[in-house]
Amino acid sequence: IAGGYEAIESKRIGGAIGTPPMNADWWPGQLPIELLHSQSAKANPLGDNFDYPAAFASIDIDVVKKDIAELLITSQDFWPADYGNYGPQMIRMAWHSAGSYRVFDGRGGSAQGLQRFAPLYSWEDNGNIDKSIRLLQPIKLKYGENISWADLIILTGNVALEQMGFKTFGFGGGRIDCYEADDASYWGPETVMATQDKRWLGEPGTKEYDLENPLAASRQSLIYVHPEGPFGNMDPLSSAQEIRITFGRMGMNDAETVALIAGGHAFGKSHGGSPKSFLGPEPSAAPIENQALGWLNSNGSGKAQFTTTNGIEGAWTSNPTRWDHEYLKNLFAFDWEQCESVAGGKSWRPKEGAASDLIPDAHVEGLRHPPMMMTTDIALIKDPAYLEVCKKFFETPALLDDAFAKAWYKLIHRDMGPKNRLLGKDVPSEELIWQDPIPELNHDLISEADINALKTKILETGHSVSALVSTAWGSASTFRKTDLRGGANGARIRLEPMINWEVNNPKQLKSVLASLEEIQQGFNSADSGAKRVSVADLVVLSGCAAIEKAALSAGVKINVPFVPGRMDALKEQTDEHNISFLEPYADGFRNFTKGKYAVDTERMLIDRAHLLDLSAPEMTALVGGLRVLDTNFDGSKHGVFTTVPGALSNDFFVNLLDINTKWAPIDEDNETFEGKDTKTGELKWTATRNDLVFGSNLQLRAVCEVYGSSTGNTRFITAFVSAWHKVMMLDRFELENELYRS
Ligand code: HEM
Repeated sequence: IAGGYEAIESKRIGGAIGTPPMNADWWPGQLPIELLHSQSAKANPLGDNFDYPAAFASIDIDVVKKDIAELLITSQDFWPADYGNYGPQMIRMAWHSAGSYRVFDGRGGSAQGLQRFAPLYSWEDNGNIDKSIRLLQPIKLKYGENISWADLIILTGNVALEQMGFKTFGFGGGRIDCYEADDASYWGPETVMATQDKRWLGEPGTKEYDLENPLAASRQSLIYVHPEGPFGNMDPLSSAQEIRITFGRMGMNDAETVALIAGGHAFGKSHGGSPKSFLGPEPSAAPIENQALGWLNSNGSGKAQFTTTNGIEGAWTSNPTRWDHEYLKNLFAFDWEQCESVAGGKSWRPKEGAASDLIPDAHVEGLRHPPMMMTTDIALIKDPAYLEVCKKFFETPALLDDAFAKAWYKLIHRDMGPKNRLLGKDVPSEELIWQDPIPELNHDLISEADINALKTKILETGHSVSALVSTAWGSASTFRKTDLRGGANGARIRLEPMINWEVNNPKQLKSVLASLEEIQQGFNSADSGAKRVSVADLVVLSGCAAIEKAALSAGVKINVPFVPGRMDALKEQTDEHNISFLEPYADGFRNFTKGKYAVDTERMLIDRAHLLDLSAPEMTALVGGLRVLDTNFDGSKHGVFTTVPGALSNDFFVNLLDINTKWAPIDEDNETFEGKDTKTGELKWTATRNDLVFGSNLQLRAVCEVYGSSTGNTRFITAFVSAWHKVMMLDRFELENELYRS
């Protein structure tokens, strides 16, 4: 017997937790439901109750800034500073941290410190930013949880700019670190990092040339564009086209784009001091002894003048550690010709050896170089519209100062939501239009008795449960946790462009809004003292009233929570272009799809649920509830698995799980389905992929079995109301924390 055990023990262990192949390897198309539960408190060493605003308030930000300023000019042996100043590389770190943001889904950006994790940490374009982060580590360790990495990275960029003579517009803290990699963001179709594949339509330079949504970079592993032009073609004009598309995807216009590039490239240099063959693997592929550092370089000292990052070599200006306007001066002063570094990086230098000793070497005393421009820099004077902006900035440098300060501020705060979320004394008093301003609360709140009376009035308008619930959902569900934009506060649903979005069923919406505005006027002009009610509140309240009525129709008396205090945004506080990015391409909660996409409809439902910060049970309860409340955007009956639409019951789940229904597609694209009685063949229901996914996906099916069981109705109603209230409250930052109110 003993001999048998020995034999077993000596067997090789071939796998442990998560060793491939896992489910996703066997069935790669499975829906990633688990991503709805990523970034859980379990992964966060600071736990669920950590109060970052309070922690941030406990430190003196001026002292932190002093520490950073000193660090910037204290060169370390492990990574000697170019020109004795880490400022430029820290600006690049901050820019790359913020620059992964894109407007279409609000993902990316600096607000969670995602740059510390894969894939961003190991992107080729983030080469050697691992060194910048490591250089900052002593400051992070000194202040611990009182300053997040995300805030520290951005603050360091600001301190660097200030220290080199640039006046920034301000800094707001409040970025909360994540503690695991983000797998929810789609960064592009390539399966080999530095290739450019399928994400672009058409050829560079043609008007068909465009980028797949929601991407904002020209290829996997870049922050924006290839510095050598599209596919490295060294063509400034098509490079300008690419810059306009990618910067536009971050909500930057031409002037902001030029200001950012001309401002950023006033500092520092590009690195192509060694052939790329000397570089080791990126951090995520590096051996354990590298301790999360990558791109270790075996040529010479492997650092300082031997450093290779992107491969292009050279600096733009003669004083790369001082803010000045020489970048544009040089851009205009010379005729440029192509050149190549020892690393193979292609760029431009002044023709015929002009200005060959303008730029000092970053490390070798006495060595001089010509200025360098990338194809993306030359693009700024070859593209007619960019050229106009460059000329303006060149002629009146103060305009560049102002535009760069404002564009930089936007770049680094764009994904942080409204101004009232920003922490610290350096937050500028001015509120900017891209922050989607809402007037401050300026009245007393309605009482419990007012709320009840208003609910009665709303129901007396005669609008259906479906119309009222759809209006409230349409308003609140624009929220996205990725950049904390949208939501019911502000009632932008009554303004362009939201009021005319197809998903909002404009005709029905306008009719509901007209009734709510009438109720509002009635209340506010009556003898209500200093009490007022906003349309934003009434929209949400109509959802509450309708759901309570719907529950009563199913024989259940419930109270849907309601917290007043929302305000109505003004038209002039609303940038329609900026708001248009909140329009959903698909909203499976209302069975809406705007077009036909490469992505499965049900994946877009999960994506929306993720933006709304919903768990799988919350998403399931909401879809099941919204279906029986008959809230499909177009009034279709897909997924309305009940004989009493408008009554809040668990019928959706009960009927979905009915083993006597057989489903079959009724269109070529397998988007809509008929469910027939297995015995009689009689048509019972119709459905979309958004509906049937709850029966076909095993994880969602397990949740449906809970809500659809004989003991599930109460649980379902409780879950529905709680998820509903959560969605209505997602944007109420002002209530979150006393500190957010200042
Ligand atoms: C450096 C490309 C926009 C700030 C670099 C480098 C590349 C590059 C290839 C060299 C990296 C290295 O070898 O270390 C681009 C492209 C841009 C762009 C293609 C857009 C078209 C910006 C913007 C900013 C910025 C918007 C900031 C507002 C910097 C700074 C450096 C730098 C400060 C110097 C880093 C150092 O000295 O270590 N850029 N950049 N860049 N970039 Fe940009």
